[in-house]
Amino acid sequence: MTSPPPSRTPGEPPGATRNGLPAQAVPPLVPGREGRPLGIGILGCADIARRRFLPALARCRGVRLVAVASRDPARAAALAAPLGAAATDYLGLLRAPDVDLVYVALPGDLHEPWSVAALEHGKHVLCEKPLALSAASVERMLAAAARHGRRLLENLMFLRHPQHLEARAILAAGHPGAPSRLRCTFHIPSPAPGDHRLDPSRGGGALHDLGRYPLGAAWHLLGGEVMEVARCEVERQAGIITAVRAEAVTAGGGALSLSIAFGRPYECWYELGTAAGALRLDRAFTPPADHRCRAELRGPGGVEARWMPAHDQWVGAIEHAAGLAGSGLGAAEEDARSCALARGADRLMAAAGAPA
Ligand SMILES: NC(=O)c1ccc[n+]([C@@H]2O[C@H](COP(=O)([O-])OP(=O)(O)OC[C@H]3O[C@@H](n4cnc5c(N)ncnc54)[C@H](OP(=O)(O)O)[C@@H]3O)[C@@H](O)[C@H]2O)c1
Repeated sequence: MTSPPPSRTPGEPPGATRNGLPAQAVPPLVPGREGRPLGIGILGCADIARRRFLPALARCRGVRLVAVASRDPARAAALAAPLGAAATDYLGLLRAPDVDLVYVALPGDLHEPWSVAALEHGKHVLCEKPLALSAASVERMLAAAARHGRRLLENLMFLRHPQHLEARAILAAGHPGAPSRLRCTFHIPSPAPGDHRLDPSRGGGALHDLGRYPLGAAWHLLGGEVMEVARCEVERQAGIITAVRAEAVTAGGGALSLSIAFGRPYECWYELGTAAGALRLDRAFTPPADHRCRAELRGPGGVEARWMPAHDQWVGAIEHAAGLAGSGLGAAEEDARSCALARGADRLMAAAGAPA
């Protein structure tokens, strides 16, 4: 396999168009209350907060880490002190006046209670995926956000990456016609013993952990919610779903074929197709900030490789959330998407024979 070209072609200015598409618009930079940077608090010293969120936060504009909360005071202090942030417990963080937005990176079953508690304390919330374990739970959370006049956003970073718009544009130029089918695979090695993903009481399982990716891609690329599940094969182990293979139909009649699994070698790609041909995108959901994903346009004439733009999707997602939180603007598109993805997940759960 050939190696990708550098993130920017030599001589190419930042933000230049690629393959005829403008680079993604930078979200508005909006300060927090009283003109200061938006204050961020982290609920739980999660692996994802340490490895991804905090390094990305340091690269974001218009935001400032204010406090870190843990059930264990020593753990909060160890993470907060080097970053110049306060260490506290969960309720202390929600009561902190300089925290404007709370990043919730807890096991899935705790997303609703702690997001709602944060909203009730007047905070905006950026909650990790899956926003909740059922559509009813997502609706309750969004109702709380509306009641308290705050934003509640689901952290699905890949949707902020411009490579998906570009993939769709390349496909349209090569194989005209609306995208009508999406094949999507996301497999990961098994989480370590004791991980909340393996715990049925914590909202564990591959469908909750990985399902938002194909469902989100279908929403974004096929333009609609998964309405019908035509076929669904499931593997289970120790009370959780460890793998799902399913065929489903979206509201617009698009065909989604998905495979998600724990306990397999890492694999993360989708193939988006029209009646005439298809485009396959590798590393579709988790590209590092400087990584240009390889796409293959496939048709009767053969296969043509293209390189997607690099983009820091963590920074994009955090700045987007901070921009919405700080601006007071509504987030109708995000709200509708979170509800639609949760309903799609419920339908897959029902087809898998699991209670939603
Ligand atoms: N967007 C992405 O790319 C991405 C990637 C990975 C994970 N995630 C999501 O991020 C969230 C956290 O995942 P993670 O892998 O980072 O989890 P993790 O390392 O296990 O962290 C979860 C944190 O939740 C807190 N917690 C509170 N009550 C808990 C309980 N009863 N059991 C276990 N932990 C408890 C703990 O913090 P304290 O002990 O400090 O209170 C713990 O560190 C999940 O929703 C996951 O789906 C998203």
